[in-house]
Amino acid sequence: MKIVVTGGLGFIGQALGRRLRGLGHDVVLVDSLTTQIHGALPQVVLPEGATFFRMDVRDLARNPELIEGCEAVYHLAAETGTAQSMYRVQDYVGVNELGTAALIEAIAAADRKPKRVILASSRSVYGEGAYVAPGRPDVLIQPSPRTPEQLAANAWEPVGADGSALQAVPTPENLPFFPGSIYAATKASQELLLRAAGPALGFKPVIFRFQNVYGEGQSLQNPYTGIISIFFNRARQGMEIPVYEDGLESRDFVHVDDIVDGLVAALDADLPDGVVMNLGAGAPTTVLDLVHQLLASGGFDVPVRVTGQYRVGDIRHCFADLTEARRLLGFEPRVSLADGLSRFCVWAGSQPVHVDKSEQAAAELRARKLMGA
Ligand SMILES: NC(=O)c1ccc[n+]([C@@H]2O[C@H](COP(=O)([O-])OP(=O)(O)OC[C@H]3O[C@@H](n4cnc5c(N)ncnc54)[C@H](O)[C@@H]3O)[C@@H](O)[C@H]2O)c1
Repeated sequence: MKIVVTGGLGFIGQALGRRLRGLGHDVVLVDSLTTQIHGALPQVVLPEGATFFRMDVRDLARNPELIEGCEAVYHLAAETGTAQSMYRVQDYVGVNELGTAALIEAIAAADRKPKRVILASSRSVYGEGAYVAPGRPDVLIQPSPRTPEQLAANAWEPVGADGSALQAVPTPENLPFFPGSIYAATKASQELLLRAAGPALGFKPVIFRFQNVYGEGQSLQNPYTGIISIFFNRARQGMEIPVYEDGLESRDFVHVDDIVDGLVAALDADLPDGVVMNLGAGAPTTVLDLVHQLLASGGFDVPVRVTGQYRVGDIRHCFADLTEARRLLGFEPRVSLADGLSRFCVWAGSQPVHVDKSEQAAAELRARKLMGA
């Protein structure tokens, strides 16, 4: 099959491109190679036999021949920093929403259109994940985003309407959109745009909502997203690891190989119209626990400081309910966090050391009152 991957030289796009080439597909990668991800002098390693076009995804509408005759498009190109999206609003809306609009126009202009458009959406569209109240495990609650006042008072855990404690549970796909950042809003918008266009243009939108993806190949120079890469880059330079809030906030860390399994299975699986699937490890890990596992795995002995700092718009907990991906794709995460971190550390240790810019990124947030304490 001819398959187009936008954002095809990003972290997930590269891993996907390699897998698709290994399966014998004709792979076309479209990527603008942004400086934030790839540095000023991008070192491009193309999957063998893949074709690459350096192009802004927003220019696809003027180049519909790239889409012509392809069986499927994976749409991965995006600006991806949650906190950064809160002040670079036009850039995020421009790339993520207009980029999706341009892809739709390219499909409309093509004579032989793709049958599927597979979107890399995000768990961020939920905002906080699903919770239950004590004694009511059958009623899912989606708490409102924590207010700046709550965060300033170190009231980290979301609470019920009556102020009662809640417990995080696996988040299913039918939880409504409740984006807590501009990035999240643009991912929800991408979903809606593709779902609106699909029936008219004759393609099936397949929406994946990824949890926190990590692994070999993740940018080590982007200070705005990817805490495992950011922490590794600091640890290898002997720098302290700052952990926000009380360190007990949790995420669902999923290895990129598992994500690629899900993406590839979606190429020819029998999927219902309007399908939306979570992809993750299906289990929460606190950030503090993650840091200790990462440092042990990399053999680093650096201080860890729980700072009590917080970012407006960050969620407290979310982890994936994988029922749909299991039922429709036979999806099962295969890489344990311990194995994944160990593989990541070996790879990252072989890469050049990058100047740490995470403190500069935090200062940008503080200057805009998007970070406290
Ligand atoms: N990594 C995660 O944890 C995660 C979680 C949820 C969703 N996602 C989604 O998965 C997709 C891929 O994420 P990733 O982690 O590989 O990110 P990444 O930043 O490594 O890759 C994104 C790629 O898109 C390219 N790009 C950015 N703007 C572009 C533009 N205007 N035109 C063309 N290319 C452009 C970048 O150069 C980069 O190569 C994104 O859509 C992201 O929102 C990722």
